[in-house]
Amino acid sequence: MAQMTIDFSRFFVPPNLKEAKKRGKEAVNVIRDFDIPEDMKDIGRGHTYLIRTYGCQMNVHDSETIAGILERMGYAPTEDEREADIILYNTCAVRENAEDKVFGELGRLKGLKRTKPDLILGVCGCMPQEEAVVNRILQRYPHVDLIFGTHNIHRLPVLLREALYAKEMVVEVWSKEGDIVENLPKVRQDGVRAWVNIMYGCDKFCTYCIVPYTRGKERSRLPQDVLAEVRDLARQGYMEVTLLGQNVNAYGKDFVDLDYDFADLLDDIRKIGIPRVRFTTSHPRDFDDKLIEVLAKGGNLVEHIHLPVQSGNSEILKKMARKYTREQYLELVRKIKEAIPGVALTTDIIVGFPGETEEQFQDTLSLVREVEFDGAYTFVYSPRPGTPAAEMEDNVPLEEKKDRLHRLNALVNEIALKKNEALRGQVVEVLVEGRSKTNPNMLSGRTRTNKLVHFPGGEELVGKLLPVKITEAHAHTLYGEALVASGV
Ligand code: SAH
Ligand code: SF4
Ligand code: F3S
Repeated sequence: MAQMTIDFSRFFVPPNLKEAKKRGKEAVNVIRDFDIPEDMKDIGRGHTYLIRTYGCQMNVHDSETIAGILERMGYAPTEDEREADIILYNTCAVRENAEDKVFGELGRLKGLKRTKPDLILGVCGCMPQEEAVVNRILQRYPHVDLIFGTHNIHRLPVLLREALYAKEMVVEVWSKEGDIVENLPKVRQDGVRAWVNIMYGCDKFCTYCIVPYTRGKERSRLPQDVLAEVRDLARQGYMEVTLLGQNVNAYGKDFVDLDYDFADLLDDIRKIGIPRVRFTTSHPRDFDDKLIEVLAKGGNLVEHIHLPVQSGNSEILKKMARKYTREQYLELVRKIKEAIPGVALTTDIIVGFPGETEEQFQDTLSLVREVEFDGAYTFVYSPRPGTPAAEMEDNVPLEEKKDRLHRLNALVNEIALKKNEALRGQVVEVLVEGRSKTNPNMLSGRTRTNKLVHFPGGEELVGKLLPVKITEAHAHTLYGEALVASGV
């Protein structure tokens, strides 16, 4: 092999939240010629990798890309960390406890690295986009070999090469987003449901949120690229796609000479022969009438919308910079319910935002009661260094915040149970995803409204759409019997 000279200084560019905040006007280039360098094409033969993924669907899908790149280099997957030659943590920065878990894991793996010095231990995803995290790893976790950010995934072969030959930690984190790389390989988790990115980044800058800094400015993939990917997945026999973006309603707003938005994209995907199409996440502020009109056409566009409200109080919403009021949100929900009968709505809610009073929290409870969400992800506010909310005065004790979370969860569960109870005795269409994680004699799948259903059945039904009669309802799951399997 040719002698390589490695200039490490090239890789020590610390990420910078201030830089990440700047939204440049430069056009985003679309790259279509990603390739693995010749000398890395076989480097993984006989070796294995393990990726641990935290955070949102965006990260889950990024892990599929990272797996795709590693497998192109010959690496094979393993679940056994003692066997793995590469262990990567694909991390989330959205709340402090997500970060704590990863630091705990890195500490835990110190022993493994000592007994197996050739192991490559890497950290990627959203945490490395924070300079404080990179500094902490450099200082306290020197056994980490490789750190790269959300904009550097396509650089993995080159970075891995450095890590394999280097004695020092390899760090590459771009604060500013790079180009859109179209032809990255992917290893999808299953053959039934697939994630499809439609856009990257977020320009909303909700005051509590780190994502606009960790994921860069909004960049939309070209419609022809998204449509080609969905068509290809349909051809391969996938039954469902979920379109991904931090704020999917902003799709297309960054196109310079193309007048094409999220509603247009859905209207085109509607015509592709894939049985189910979902999307996440939509922002209430940009959810316009045109989008509701397209969704109301139904077909493969399912009756489920995840519509994060965050708070039911307009003053708190203002402090969060959500750019809608309680009334506007409720009006939007009214329009959606009117246009899409049987629609299931789920949401995200933060309790204990800086200065949130008991009365303001009560507004959240009353909004939840009024909308009757089918489910909600609820969180205690977690200050993220570098975000505006982290500077706001916060006089609400943590105990009080936790108490609000409990009260909110009790209400959310009560309503979810009531909604699920209403399905008892009904026949719903279920897409079978696989064996139940808790009972091998049961299959699991989801309704169009994204409700999890368990029912008895054999492996041969995986990937099928089945009519299932609901026999038992809980707040988070339904139980039933497949009508075809029992010959009805
Ligand atoms: N882009 C998506 C959500 C991204 S993060 C959206 O806007 O809906 C997922 C959820 O995490 C958010 O909806 C919010 O409820 C929660 N979240 C984000 N930052 C948080 C913080 N600092 N503390 C607590 N929860 C937070
Ligand atoms: Fe965060 Fe708000 Fe963007 Fe969602 S829309 S990712 S909550 S800044
Ligand atoms: Fe977390 Fe990054 Fe997603 S911060 S929520 S993994 S975009």
